[in-house]
Amino acid sequence: MIHHKHSLLLLILSLFFVTCKDSGTGSEETDLEPSLRNSPTFPVGYAIQRTHLDDFQYLQLLRNEASSISAEYEMKMNPMYNNQNAVDYGIVDQIVGIADELEVRVHGHALLWHSAVPGWMNSFSGTDAEFESLIEDYVKDVVSRYRGQVASWDVVNEAFEDGSGNPLRNSVFRQKMGDDYIEKVFRWAREADPDVLLFYNDYNLAANGSKLDAVLDLADDFIARGIPIDGIGFQMHISYNWPSEQNIMLATNKVVSRGLQIHYSELDIRVNPDGASDSYTPELDQRFTDRTEFIFNFYKNLPEESQFGITWWGVKDDDTWLRDFWDNQNEWPLLFDSEFNPKPAAQVIIDLFE
Ligand code: G3I
Repeated sequence: MIHHKHSLLLLILSLFFVTCKDSGTGSEETDLEPSLRNSPTFPVGYAIQRTHLDDFQYLQLLRNEASSISAEYEMKMNPMYNNQNAVDYGIVDQIVGIADELEVRVHGHALLWHSAVPGWMNSFSGTDAEFESLIEDYVKDVVSRYRGQVASWDVVNEAFEDGSGNPLRNSVFRQKMGDDYIEKVFRWAREADPDVLLFYNDYNLAANGSKLDAVLDLADDFIARGIPIDGIGFQMHISYNWPSEQNIMLATNKVVSRGLQIHYSELDIRVNPDGASDSYTPELDQRFTDRTEFIFNFYKNLPEESQFGITWWGVKDDDTWLRDFWDNQNEWPLLFDSEFNPKPAAQVIIDLFE
């Protein structure tokens, strides 16, 4: 039933869209000319939640300004595999179905993440071999189910510690499957879908050189041993003034020089990191615009084959996880304001490609 409701919503949207297109206007409702969907030479995406896809304004914005979506939560192991007896595909089936109607790419986030382990898995009483078999079945079932619908996966997210030599986190996966769990999961994902793009994803890789080196050592080892990997995701939870432009460029080029694709996978830009401002002033907006312009201008000049895309970690400012995480409601880190209006930075992005 839910799906039919969507079909009606999208039919209305399509008629609206066709009307706008026939009248020669761009994406009328957002005044962006031409659009964030059609102008950039690489996919621009947004993290969404299933409930957003019940909202006409989100659907309208995604139809006009998105080339890709990532599920902020629902494609993780804990919501999907919360019941040990069966994987629940219902929500994700709806997300990929609606994405297909919107004609946007779906990036799968994330097959294995130590912060998204279902409760029962942490207290699993079977043998390590039985645990590994569960994980293998999960990875192969999920990736093969969405073959042709999900273009790419964060196969493993945040496997390395931040400090003290950046060892592998002592996750339940490492404990029960061994230090080579990461390559096992990448191999399984490739076996399930020969075409899906396989990413390793992590945060602060442009700011923490030793952590980046740990990730690149993994990538180099995979490449040397023929273990499938297509790219690295830099989450890019950044501020207007951190990390430095040089660090972002150096770190990115280390990935590109290996022939891997780079995905800025969770972009948000804190413009009020010190919490000094209680409103989104022209000064904060300029910070946002300047940083956005740097990121997109640098990224667009990378080798085309390296450009997987840039995904904002949310559509509009009040979607952002940052307000709760930093306990600062005065943060405006995304491309659209809370009323779905594009910030000036959106047109600046488009103009980079005109
Ligand atoms: O949808 C359920 C709702 O049904 C339930 O009643 C409610 C209470 O438990 O939870 C809701 O799910 C929440 C979900 O966000 C959707 O809002 C989860 O509790 C909450 O834990 C989840 O937080 C997400 C977090 O990852 C953990 O999965 C954030 O939205 C999301 O922004 C954040 O994203 C992570 C990336 O995956 C990895 N990189 C870091 C980034 C920020 O932490």
